[in-house]
Amino acid sequence: MTINWTSLKPVRLLSFIAVASLTFGMSAAKAADPEKIVGPNNCAECHIKETAAWKTTHHFSTFRALPKSKEATEIAAKMEVKRLKADSLCLGCHFTSQSVSGSPTSISGISCESCHSEGKEWYKVHSGFSGKKEGQESAAEIKARWEKSEAAGMIRPKKTYTLAKNCFTCHLVLNEKLVNVGGHKAGSKFELVSWSQGEVRHNLWKTKGKSNPEASTERKRMLFVVGRIVELEMSLIGVGKATVKKDYALKMAKRAGTARKVVAQLAKLLPEAQELQEIAATAKAVELKLNNEAQMTEAAGKISILGLKFAAEHDGSAFGAIDKFVPGPKKYKGQASN
Ligand code: HEC
Ligand code: HEC
Ligand code: HEC
Ligand code: HEC
Repeated sequence: MTINWTSLKPVRLLSFIAVASLTFGMSAAKAADPEKIVGPNNCAECHIKETAAWKTTHHFSTFRALPKSKEATEIAAKMEVKRLKADSLCLGCHFTSQSVSGSPTSISGISCESCHSEGKEWYKVHSGFSGKKEGQESAAEIKARWEKSEAAGMIRPKKTYTLAKNCFTCHLVLNEKLVNVGGHKAGSKFELVSWSQGEVRHNLWKTKGKSNPEASTERKRMLFVVGRIVELEMSLIGVGKATVKKDYALKMAKRAGTARKVVAQLAKLLPEAQELQEIAATAKAVELKLNNEAQMTEAAGKISILGLKFAAEHDGSAFGAIDKFVPGPKKYKGQASN
């Protein structure tokens, strides 16, 4: 079977009606709460190797690089943003901001807590071994420790759907004005396996820093499918925020159209994955058009619930049928450190 992952049916953006209300979906990304940020230096106390790996990434270097960029100055000017590192519009996606004497201050680029969530309420819990020494907790205590950490917001690697969705809150720019007026990209050519297994990779804890292995084959299959489901969910939300037939609407509709097609193809390849069948059917039923937020949000909501279930109920071991589509090392974004 040949599958062309990038082919795209002409997306139906027909029913564009002239719009009276130009409400720009302002901020779609859930920005981290500066009050709850402890900062990467705190994580580094124990996670030395992960921190060293992070320091080789664009997520780290952008802290110094972005404010010097001419493109950033131009976008900021069009958006009437005076200071990149202080205005919440850019801050939420480009920096980590911590509350210092009551006011949000950018302290680094995209850091640990941008991906694992704000640490204040869980970072001592997750590492505290329930007040005992490592190895001395009961199974019930270990379970309770992780439950408590998750309840306080920690995004653990095994929460694959939430983990992936978090990447997309930044890597898809669900802000019509920022794209149409500011000239910002509508998002990255993001694919979860290739974008997580290169420079971002830091599987260094379980190996005690001795090596930084790629995710297992089964895990990569899960990352691949989950990434595509999240992309579908988020791009539908993105289309829902489109009010005028300009760059933003066209990019989002194209993206949603492609994501929908890819998920339909994956559903065919994995007929035993019931949630995937339902996700494909849900997406097929929506009309990708302007000013259709209610329908888009409803479909995205359904997909989110099904996606969470999919991620929780499968481990990828039965998904060999998709192996040839999962990107290999040549496609990885940047170089993983060791
Ligand atoms: C006091 C030491 C310490 C600090 C500080 C610390 N961690 Fe950890 N971290 C640990 C330990 C220990 C584990 C493994 C616990 C286990 O497996 O039982 C861990 C595990 C993790 C995991 C893997 C969880 C999983 O599901 O297996 C993540 C992610 C993580 N830490 C992120 C962070 C972040 C982000 C910060 C800063 C906000 C941080 N840690 C601060 C000690 C620490
Ligand atoms: C919803 C999240 C989001 C918001 C809000 C956002 N950006 Fe971005 N921006 C991104 C992502 C993700 C990229 C990387 C795009 C890629 O893959 O090339 C990016 C890329 C850029 C780039 C291209 C150069 C580079 O660093 O890769 C500039 C310049 C930029 N953003 C400036 C801004 C400015 C200025 C603001 C505020 C007015 C802003 N951004 C707001 C997510 C965002
Ligand atoms: C760009 C998002 C991102 C950033 C930034 C990030 N992480 Fe992670 N982290 C992940 C992902 C994704 C995984 C899981 C990879 C997988 O399961 O295949 C992970 C896994 C981990 C693990 C488990 C590693 C293992 O061996 O199993 C630890 C511990 C961890 N991160 C800590 C940190 C710390 C500390 C920082 C900051 C220095 C950090 N992370 C920064 C996304 C991120
Ligand atoms: C808080 C927002 C945010 C989150 C969350 C986030 N990113 Fe990013 N990411 C960015 C921005 C902004 C850039 C562009 C940085 C720059 O200016 O170079 C970027 C850049 C990257 C790059 C480098 C791209 C290149 O062009 O070389 C990779 C790879 C990447 N991100 C992967 C991930 C993965 C995987 C996740 C989730 C596990 C993730 N990101 C989560 C904002 C984010």
